[in-house]
Amino acid sequence: MIKNTLLKAVEAGGKELKHFFNGSFTIASKGSLNDLVTEADHAAEKAIFKVIQEAFPSHFILSEETGEIKQDSKIKWIIDPIDGTINFANGIPICCVSIGVEDEGKMILGAVYNPIMNEMFIAERGKGATLNGNKISVSDKDNLLSSCLVTGFPYQYLDSENGPLQIFEKLIRKAIPVRRLGSAAIDLCWTAAGRFDGFYEHKLQAWDSAAGFLMVEEAGGKVTDLKGNPYSPYQPGIIATNGKIHDQLLHVITGGNL
Ligand code: IPD
Ligand code: CA
Ligand code: CA
Repeated sequence: MIKNTLLKAVEAGGKELKHFFNGSFTIASKGSLNDLVTEADHAAEKAIFKVIQEAFPSHFILSEETGEIKQDSKIKWIIDPIDGTINFANGIPICCVSIGVEDEGKMILGAVYNPIMNEMFIAERGKGATLNGNKISVSDKDNLLSSCLVTGFPYQYLDSENGPLQIFEKLIRKAIPVRRLGSAAIDLCWTAAGRFDGFYEHKLQAWDSAAGFLMVEEAGGKVTDLKGNPYSPYQPGIIATNGKIHDQLLHVITGGNL
């Protein structure tokens, strides 16, 4: 029942995303200049809420544009109505709807839907991860130096030790390909599907990673924070890999040399 509602909800959000993609929509800035929200983000969020609230009016919701709709429920829906909004606003087809479902603090389901590329990723705790119904698994690359990585950068630059640019520089100086797609949820799903060997990012919100981190785990990968501790989507840093290059990437991110 929850899984059905999850699928209906991502599809409803995806329909709005697709409807507005390459069309006209209003754009507003939230705080910093390039941190945007469009009419489509609001429309997608509204459509997703409608599906969830009709089926489960008493469930807790955390969603990027609305914040928390607190309820005394062990189930919590964690929603990013459009992940990759800047891509979306520029007509770049790397954007998606991302929804994770938590049961008593444990992520049990995740769905990430990119309606432009027609890719639906679903993860179910203990049951694996799929892309358009086909099982996916992480890559088996075991050498960081020959890996293909992906990362993202925060809207406001983080000037810290071992910050985004320092890590990026170390990897790039070794000629390791590091992509920057602009959607953390898609970065995680593409890592789950073996297109990337690893993903890291310094500052995400729970809605960016809720569904995607479960996708990587269920596809056989490993997800930790930037220090190698068990991952929680309620803290900012993430390293998600195929498992085999995890310690090598962790070593670089914690200040080690390649
Ligand atoms: C952003 C994307 C991006 C990541 C940013 C996120 P949004 O989400 O996931 O890849 O680097 O940190 O905020 O704003 O497009 O929903
Ligand atoms: Ca996001
Ligand atoms: Ca968003």
